[in-house]
Amino acid sequence: IEGMASGEQLHPLQKKFLEHAALQCGICTPGVLVAAKALLEKNPDPTETEVRYWLAGNLCRCTGYDKIIRAVLDAGEVMRQNPAKTPAKV
Ligand code: FES
Repeated sequence: IEGMASGEQLHPLQKKFLEHAALQCGICTPGVLVAAKALLEKNPDPTETEVRYWLAGNLCRCTGYDKIIRAVLDAGEVMRQNPAKTPAKV
C-alpha cells in the first residue's frame, strides 16, 4: 500500500483516510484503498451509491463505512481538481 504514495507525498486517498479518520484497526484499510483507487481511476466522479457498491466486497468491522465513503468521495474531488498532483497509476 506504500506504493500508492509518491515518495513522501501521500496519495489523496491516503490523506483523506487520515483526515476523515476512516480507519481504526487498519485491517481492512489496504484492500479498501486499493479498491477505491481502482474505482476513481475508472470513474473519477462516482456517486455515493457507486462507491458503496464498489467497496461492498471489503468488510470493515470498525468504522461503520460512512467515514470510508466520505473519504473516497472527498479524495475523488481532490483528484478531479488537481490531477497533476495525483501520483501516477501504479
Ligand atoms: Fe478495522 Fe476496518 S478499520 S476492520
